[in-house]
Amino acid sequence: MTNPFSLVNKKILVTGASSGIGRSCAIELSKAGAQVVVTGRNENRLKEVAQIANANKSIVVDLCSEDGVSSLVKQLENIDGIVHAAGIIKPFPVSFVGAKHINEVQSINFNAPVELTSLLLRKRKINNNGSIVFISSISSSFPYKGGAIYTAFKAALETYSKVVALEYGEKGIRSNCIKAALVNTKVLDETINSLPPEILEEHKKRYLLGFGEPDDVANACIYFLSNASRWVTGTNLVLDGGLTAGA
Ligand SMILES: NC(=O)c1ccc[n+]([C@@H]2O[C@H](COP(=O)([O-])OP(=O)(O)OC[C@H]3O[C@@H](n4cnc5c(N)ncnc54)[C@H](OP(=O)(O)O)[C@@H]3O)[C@@H](O)[C@H]2O)c1
Repeated sequence: MTNPFSLVNKKILVTGASSGIGRSCAIELSKAGAQVVVTGRNENRLKEVAQIANANKSIVVDLCSEDGVSSLVKQLENIDGIVHAAGIIKPFPVSFVGAKHINEVQSINFNAPVELTSLLLRKRKINNNGSIVFISSISSSFPYKGGAIYTAFKAALETYSKVVALEYGEKGIRSNCIKAALVNTKVLDETINSLPPEILEEHKKRYLLGFGEPDDVANACIYFLSNASRWVTGTNLVLDGGLTAGA
């Protein structure tokens, strides 16, 4: 019997593959049989991941540069799926928010995945029955102080994903989001450094299963990219170690 979670014969693009969640996705998807195409900005870290994941292609690009998205799409052959893991957090108090901060957070967390998805679809570079996965955040439903712009654009991304699902369902192309809480990447280190230890300890206690690891997110991506989730589209999956289970 074929394994429904297998990614054999699937070519998957992973953005943000040079670090954290994207890195783990590239490696774990390849273990599940996928041919991965990896992209990120840092050439050395991307090269290392490409080697471990035996990547089909490795493309260094800044997705916020003027022709970053179009140059990436030009270098791609048809794919069966994509994980949009590139992103930044950048907390900022509401009273300090201005155009510069909005543009910086919006351009990689919203514009890049949206422009990339729309261009790939317009160029018919996502095969029928393909799967698109956006890495969103639990904070779009449960915002935190300092996260006004980040959480707003993650919420916008979730809405965009649902419309992709609506418009491409007839081609079998699926679109879903993963709403992650704190995962052990550079982002967690930055959070630890920005909070007083007692507040961090209090917050940690609310995670029934502790903070997440990048592989926890990668495993959910395997599900979304594989035929195991063939009947699932337009959804948001909460991965939060029980943080929002109840009071
Ligand atoms: N970690 C968490 O707790 C958490 C929770 C919820 C959601 N998320 C989401 O998960 C995603 C990945 O986060 P992470 O924790 O894995 O962070 P990370 O380790 O900092 O990785 C971020 C990735 O995004 C890439 N990137 C950033 N700006 C880019 C740009 N302009 N062009 C191309 N690539 C760019 C980085 O590339 P370079 O390193 O090469 O510059 C890196 O590969 C983000 O969307 C984040 O919002 C994370």
